[in-house]
Amino acid sequence: MSIKEIFETMDYGPAPESAAEALAWLVDQGDRFGHFIDGVFTEPGDGFESRNPATGEVLATLSQATQADVDAAVAAARKAQPGWEKMGGPGRARHLYALARLLQKHARLFAVLETLDNGKPIREARDIDIPLAQRHFYYHAGMAQLMESELPDAQAIGVCGQVIPWNFPLLMLAWKIAPALAMGNTVVLKPAEYTSLTALLFADICRQAGLPKGVVNIVTGDGAVGEMIVSAKVDKIAFTGSTEVGRRIRQATAGSGKALTLELGGKSPYIVFDDADMDSAIEGLVDAIWFNQGQVCCAGSRLLVQEGVADRFHDKLRARMDKLRIGNPLDKCIDVGAVVDPVQLETIRTLVGGNTAGQTYHAACDLPETGCFYPPTLITGLAASDPLMQEEIFGPVLVSTTFRTPAEAVELANNTRYGLAATLWTENVNLALDIAPKLVAGVVWVNGTNMFDAAAGFGGMRESGFGREGGWEGLSAYTKPKTQSKRLERLEPVIGDGVPVDPIDRTAKLYIGGKQARPDGGYSRPVWGKAGLLGHASIANRKDVRNAVEAAQGAKGWSATSGHLRAQILYYMAENLSARASEFAARIDAMSGLKNGKWEVEASIQRLFTAAAWADKYDGQVHGVPIRGVALAMKEPIGVIGAICADEAPLLGLISVLAPAMAMGNRIVLVASEPYPLAATDLVQVLETSDVPAGVVNILTGSHGELAAPMANHLGLDAMWCFSSTDLSEEIEIASAGNLKRTWVNYAAAMDWSADHTQRFLQEATEIKNVWVPYGE
Ligand code: NAI
Repeated sequence: MSIKEIFETMDYGPAPESAAEALAWLVDQGDRFGHFIDGVFTEPGDGFESRNPATGEVLATLSQATQADVDAAVAAARKAQPGWEKMGGPGRARHLYALARLLQKHARLFAVLETLDNGKPIREARDIDIPLAQRHFYYHAGMAQLMESELPDAQAIGVCGQVIPWNFPLLMLAWKIAPALAMGNTVVLKPAEYTSLTALLFADICRQAGLPKGVVNIVTGDGAVGEMIVSAKVDKIAFTGSTEVGRRIRQATAGSGKALTLELGGKSPYIVFDDADMDSAIEGLVDAIWFNQGQVCCAGSRLLVQEGVADRFHDKLRARMDKLRIGNPLDKCIDVGAVVDPVQLETIRTLVGGNTAGQTYHAACDLPETGCFYPPTLITGLAASDPLMQEEIFGPVLVSTTFRTPAEAVELANNTRYGLAATLWTENVNLALDIAPKLVAGVVWVNGTNMFDAAAGFGGMRESGFGREGGWEGLSAYTKPKTQSKRLERLEPVIGDGVPVDPIDRTAKLYIGGKQARPDGGYSRPVWGKAGLLGHASIANRKDVRNAVEAAQGAKGWSATSGHLRAQILYYMAENLSARASEFAARIDAMSGLKNGKWEVEASIQRLFTAAAWADKYDGQVHGVPIRGVALAMKEPIGVIGAICADEAPLLGLISVLAPAMAMGNRIVLVASEPYPLAATDLVQVLETSDVPAGVVNILTGSHGELAAPMANHLGLDAMWCFSSTDLSEEIEIASAGNLKRTWVNYAAAMDWSADHTQRFLQEATEIKNVWVPYGE
């Protein structure tokens, strides 16, 4: 285009970034890649081609890892791990810093290679992906430096298997590798098969930085290689990708004791209120759904716009869509690049083509004749239940519906199985800060969208997965406590045939929804102590679990109460327990035959006090983030927690779980110690006299083995914990995959109940929501 033509049309002239350096690097590597194992590149093996989705050209040939390759990578990581950990935080910080510097130095090469491989506009790779990847390494160099002083009880988990997707190849690598290395772990990472090149360039950078061999290992290949990593002898799996694969990984790792974090899909709402700054909200949408061609797990892919302004908003939006420039991703003027692969393009076409609801509008832009391009698309007039309002499309396709009131907006926003992110636009600060806490999402952006920073944790609720990446909270995914526990022996109930201690037959009932309830099956079992029959305990079944979960769900109000109020109730419980201390102590001694009842009651009272103390102090943080704003890291209750309590400490084990969960605003369904259930059923009287609202605490008794699956399967429970002396870990983790509930199970390891684990329980009982709000200049 000549200068004269540019002046006349006022159109952008093409401004392509040169691919020469990146192509030269590929040629230097021989255009064929092996894996990066133990500090060296292996000989290329059988493999597959990696193509530029914008042109279809082959960029390089990659190797499909074999089982032997994965084993070698895991062995190298295992060998390197102790030395890397022992090097200490400051030593590791230097290495992370060196990696950050080299990423910065080669930023342009990384950006161009990413664009060639993935199809994303160079503007995004250059200004977002690569700088954020650098930032992650700088930030975590700092975390390594601070680990020993700030996390004195934490140590590395060991070897981490990491499987990442193709939408942000280098950035996802940085999110996974930087915190892992900072905390003293070593890694085996598999990039996605469509986009492995920047990971291999990163391997080259590791060599240049003099990173000890074996600390970072990179193997390439498809999902089969991912499966090999998942089943390898690693200590932790970190996965980002589809919910379907995430669920499979949850099942595959069940019972193995491998730590797991899952960052999965989303269908994130983008809410526009009628007082929003329309033009800003439109520009926000461009970033929400056309950033990276909509292939973003937290894309604002579901537009909810207030009815009064909907027509005007949609008109403006269509006009803006028509101005989006789609084409050569290397062109610096391009807004929308290529979809990652013909397979993904076909998925998008099939999903949109199969839709008959609403009105579909494709942007009036010229699509390149070849390559994986799909036009920016808006589908209006959908109902909440339409498949495209529920299914993740993972393409440049926005679906839209309208709402009338803020309450309806919240209802529609939360009408999804996902809970990754949400965006809301309004000029009314009261409205924004009223709505943000009501949205079920790990991240909420106010008057902005798709903002990320290493200091602000990222991760989902519900079926968007669990665990956080970034921030202080992200570190817990890569550390474990220093104290390691012994194996827990299964504790059998006392079997007796002596005379009843008490001549009156007492059958302790269940406690559901604030009332004592007979078990659905009508069964009970005798509870014997060394001295004779102590009474009977009800045997709860699946139906009782359902009733208890329903009651807990109904007690939503508890989550909205203040920490101050919750503390008062916990103090009140402590007071009432204290008044009956000797009675409880005698009961515990009678059941177990051990003389530790007095100590257990005293420690339980302490736990209640500690939880009460924390109830109004376990606060979130405010993160400074590099935008005109702050990220408020709010600690929210998980919701409804199911917990199978310890057998060996019938009162203390239960109170240690109950008190922190309550303190943080959760409702809970507890299963009492199986051999010694009567301390829990006696506690009902304490609850009843302590103003605990109905449904906040529900207590079941019965067989741990029989109650575990119905609880873990129940979609109404958000988390499931188990401290039983029967090892139910595998069963619970498999069943929990249904709604991807958070699990905390003991893998038959004993918990030392004499130690106060309240802080750990508080952490498990909360989930962090980062709310990004405008602030300052
Ligand atoms: P995917 O979940 O299959 O792939 C992600 C990564 O997991 C890749 O590295 C892949 O090789 C690996 N993988 C595949 N199967 C595996 C298994 N059984 N065990 C271990 N690793 C395995 O995602 P895919 O097929 O590339 O995309 C399909 C859909 O997934 C997309 O349309 C989108 O809806 C969603 N997706 C979501 C992402 C997110 O960031 N939340 C990222 C990528 C895809």
